[in-house]
Amino acid sequence: MQLFKWPGQLVLFNFLMFMSWRSCREYSSRFQRDPQSVISTNDDRRNPDFYFPADPEADLAESSPEEIPLQRQKYRPVIATTPRPAAAPAFSYNPKDKNGPPNWNRIDARCGGRYQSPILLNTSSALVVNRKRPLRLTGITNLPESIRLQNDGHSAKFTYNWRNVERPVLSGGPLKTKYIFEQFHFHWGSNSSVGSEHVLDQQRYPLEIHLVFYNGLYGSFQEASGQVDGIAVVGLFYEIYKHSVNEQLNTWTFFLYNVIQPNSEYTISFVDTFPLYEVIGDIEWPYFSYEGSLTTPPCLETVTWIVATKPLLVTEKEMNQFRRLRSATGPMVDNYRPLQKLNHRRVFLY
Ligand SMILES: *[C@@H]1O[C@H](CO)[C@@H](O)[C@H](O)[C@H]1NC(C)=O
Ligand SMILES: *[C@@H]1O[C@H](CO)[C@@H](O)[C@H](O)[C@H]1NC(C)=O
Repeated sequence: MQLFKWPGQLVLFNFLMFMSWRSCREYSSRFQRDPQSVISTNDDRRNPDFYFPADPEADLAESSPEEIPLQRQKYRPVIATTPRPAAAPAFSYNPKDKNGPPNWNRIDARCGGRYQSPILLNTSSALVVNRKRPLRLTGITNLPESIRLQNDGHSAKFTYNWRNVERPVLSGGPLKTKYIFEQFHFHWGSNSSVGSEHVLDQQRYPLEIHLVFYNGLYGSFQEASGQVDGIAVVGLFYEIYKHSVNEQLNTWTFFLYNVIQPNSEYTISFVDTFPLYEVIGDIEWPYFSYEGSLTTPPCLETVTWIVATKPLLVTEKEMNQFRRLRSATGPMVDNYRPLQKLNHRRVFLY
């Protein structure tokens, strides 16, 4: 019984009982009805209020960054499971496959959870946050020592190797601590009417980038990915640049031809590296935020999503550079997960 951690609490409880029979009765009936609501357990994740107080503004009051880790430990339980090593998971995006999205829960039960991603983002039903802390991304112009580009059989992934350079750090907005940049990867379609994982007001975009960050309270992405507040992913849509098919707007897509085969990789050396700024530009867009999951198995529900409302631009030529990549079963296209149920989550618009 963790209700009374120190004798003073018991004294205080008795005092309250004595002073106010009525409020005490309310307290104990609530306690009897749902002991889980008093004793902090992992089930707190089932309660959306655990993440955001009823008044989102209260959550957004400025607080000094130094006291953040202490606050977190007071009320945030930690999932006891350790993340699995990144062994190539045998999942597919074909709904008819036995390893297709409807059966991902057989690959990892957590894919059948109630707080999965992606979701439909609906501007008219999102809760608008008025008093917002600005979202900050520092180190956006820093150049890494090299970039490892991988075709992992499901996506094209760019992992920056920083060595002595300061990594980009994401903070502010809905985030309570600092999140360190890990990698970015993409989801795209076989044609430009499909491809993005999130859907914004009925619209699916041809391409979606996911910039993955992990909570600086933990030692690595692997360690953080199993923690409730472990991961933050920034998602941005791309729309087709209509004025020219062939223009190269995103020069880095040129590197994709080096990893056409599944499970191949290529190292972009220092002279050819590019900063995050060259990929996503300034982060001054309005965005949605909600609590969700990784969109591939093991689908860990440890992600704070930040999805920009303003799309970036891509040309058809660049889209074809993506569509030329291959997976184990054919062209790597339509590598987006179907929409998941919102269930009891709330989506905020910042
Ligand atoms: C978006 O939310 C509005 C208001 O709740 C609702 O009427 C509409 O059907 C929703 N749109 C979609 C695509 O779910
Ligand atoms: C685009 O691709 C999707 C998924 O493969 C398919 O369902 C759709 O019919 C295609 N649309 C066009 C216009 O070719």
